[in-house]
Amino acid sequence: MKLLVATRNKHKLEEIHAILAGLDVELHSALDFPEIPDVVEDGDTFEANAIKKAVTLARATGCWALADDSGLEVEALGNAPGVYSARYAGEPVSYAANNEKLLRELAGQTDRRARFRCVMALSDPAGRAETVAGRCEGHILEALRGAAGFGYDPLFVPEGFEQTFAEMPAEEKNAISHRGRALAAAQEKWKQLLGGA
Ligand code: IMP
Repeated sequence: MKLLVATRNKHKLEEIHAILAGLDVELHSALDFPEIPDVVEDGDTFEANAIKKAVTLARATGCWALADDSGLEVEALGNAPGVYSARYAGEPVSYAANNEKLLRELAGQTDRRARFRCVMALSDPAGRAETVAGRCEGHILEALRGAAGFGYDPLFVPEGFEQTFAEMPAEEKNAISHRGRALAAAQEKWKQLLGGA
């Protein structure tokens, strides 16, 4: 089965490819369809955005499509940046500027609890979509640590660990991350379709 991953984010693609390696699916991505415009992510929820991305690519290509919408929720900030995680510090999008803004917003804050959330939507070629979700609880540091991963990884320490996501080997992050957990749920829910590992 041919499955298109509805993202042009190379970091997300790497993680999704690594996690789904071994499944009986031929993975392609939105990078293979430069003529299809980017989806405007204007939904209020991760679910709405994930569905919009998967359905748009599936309908445009006539293939099955899988989309990830994800972000960071920080307890002391009323769950911001949430669906606005990618553009938290505005345009042009910059992971460094987002991390600086997060540290500024949390300056002097002792409650550093946070979680990553991910919703994966799978759409058939006709645009019928279903979703699964994953989350990873943890806390935000007061300074960046580590060079691996992407986004808020250098500031996020998952519960029960000492290292940030950016200090861990990729396999370790993928085993416990919001994206890894959502994809584990996807493999369970859509077992027949995705084929066994
Ligand atoms: P979107 O799903 O494309 O709207 O963007 C999600 C944004 O959330 C990314 O640009 C990152 O800033 C952040 N994010 C999502 N997943 C991760 C992750 O695994 N590590 C670090 N940041 C993430």
